[in-house]
Amino acid sequence: MKRILSCMQPTSHLHLGNYLGALKNWVKLQDEGGECFYGVVDLHAITQPYEQDALKQATREIAAAYIAGGVDPKKSALFVQSSVPEHSQLMWLLATMSQMGKLERMTQFKDKAGKHKERAGLGLFAYPVLMAADILIYNATHVPVGEDQKQHLELARDIASTFNTRYGVEHFVQPEPYIMGEATRVMSLRDGTQKMSKSAESDMSRINLTDDADTIAKKIRKAKTDADALPDNMKALEDRPEAKNLVTLYGALADKTSDAVIKEFAGKTFSEFKPALADVAVAHLEPITKRMTELMSDTAEIDAILHKGAEKARGVAKPIFQQTMDIMGFWK
Ligand code: TYM
Repeated sequence: MKRILSCMQPTSHLHLGNYLGALKNWVKLQDEGGECFYGVVDLHAITQPYEQDALKQATREIAAAYIAGGVDPKKSALFVQSSVPEHSQLMWLLATMSQMGKLERMTQFKDKAGKHKERAGLGLFAYPVLMAADILIYNATHVPVGEDQKQHLELARDIASTFNTRYGVEHFVQPEPYIMGEATRVMSLRDGTQKMSKSAESDMSRINLTDDADTIAKKIRKAKTDADALPDNMKALEDRPEAKNLVTLYGALADKTSDAVIKEFAGKTFSEFKPALADVAVAHLEPITKRMTELMSDTAEIDAILHKGAEKARGVAKPIFQQTMDIMGFWK
C-alpha cells in the first residue's frame, strides 16, 4: 500500500501555488485510498525570523486549510511536526550522514540565506535534513509536492540510501516525489519568471486562500500580461511566461488540461480571459475560504483533530525510530 506523506510550513497564509501544487493532490491521493500523513511543519517555520505570538494560530490556520481544502481527518492523519518528537530525533541521526557540500547546493538555502551565507542559522542550513527525517520517519513511499521541492526530495532519497549502504540494511524506503497536475510551479502574478511565494513582498503577486472574492478578482484583473491575444497552442506561449501562467491556472482550477483551455480561448484577449479566470478561481476557492473561517472560529475542533493525528503519526514513527537506533547500535 502507498504511504503518502507531505507537509507545509506555518509561515504566513497559504496561496494558490500551495493549493494547486500540493494540497489539491493530497486530497486526490487520500481519496484514492493511500495511507496519508499530512503535517504542519512548525520546526521548519522557525528557521527564519518569526512571530512567537503568531505561531500557534498560523499552525491552526494551515490545519484549517488542509481540512477546508478536502483533507478528511477520518482518512488522513493530520498532525503538527513538533508534537511528534521522533522527527527531530531522527534528524540528528541523519545529520551525521549528510554531507555539507550537498546541503550547500540546495537552491532554497541559497535563496533564503541571500548574500550573507555565513550569517544564516544552522537550522536553515540543516533544514533539508529535517525534511528528510519528516519523510523517512514514516517510511513514506510517495511525497506529493510542488516542483520547487524536488531537490530536497532527491536529498532525502540520497540520505536513505546512504543509511542503508552504511549499515548494510534495507531499512529506509526510497521516497518517490509525486509532482502532479497542471500547476506544479505556479508563478507570481507580477512576474511570470518568479514562483508565487509567501515571502514575495507584494501581496498582489499571489492569491491567498484567505482572500475574498473581490480581492481575487482584483488581483487577477491587475495581473501582469501582454497586449497580444491568446494563441491556439501552449507552445506559442513559451516566451510569454505571464500568459502561460494564467492559462495553466485556469486549467488547474477548472480541472482541464492547459491545451484544452488554450483551444477554448484562442483569439481572445486578456480583457476577456481574465474575468473568466476570476470566475473559476472564485468558484473554486470561495467554499474553501468559507470553511476555513468556520473552522478557525472554533479552534477546539482543530486542536482535537491535531492531537488525534499526532497519536496516529507517533504510532508509526516510534517503532521506525527505535529500529533505526537498534540498527545504529545504540544501548537500550
Ligand atoms: P512550503 O511550505 O514552502 O510549500 C508547501 C507546498 O506547496 C508547494 N508550493 C508550490 N507548488 C506550486 N507552485 C508554487 N508556486 C508553490 N509554492 C509552494 C511546495 O512545493 C510544497 O509542496 N520544505 C517544504 C515543507 C516540508 C515538506 C516536508 C514537504 C517540510 N517537510 C516533508 C514534503 C515532505 C516547504 O517549505 O514547503
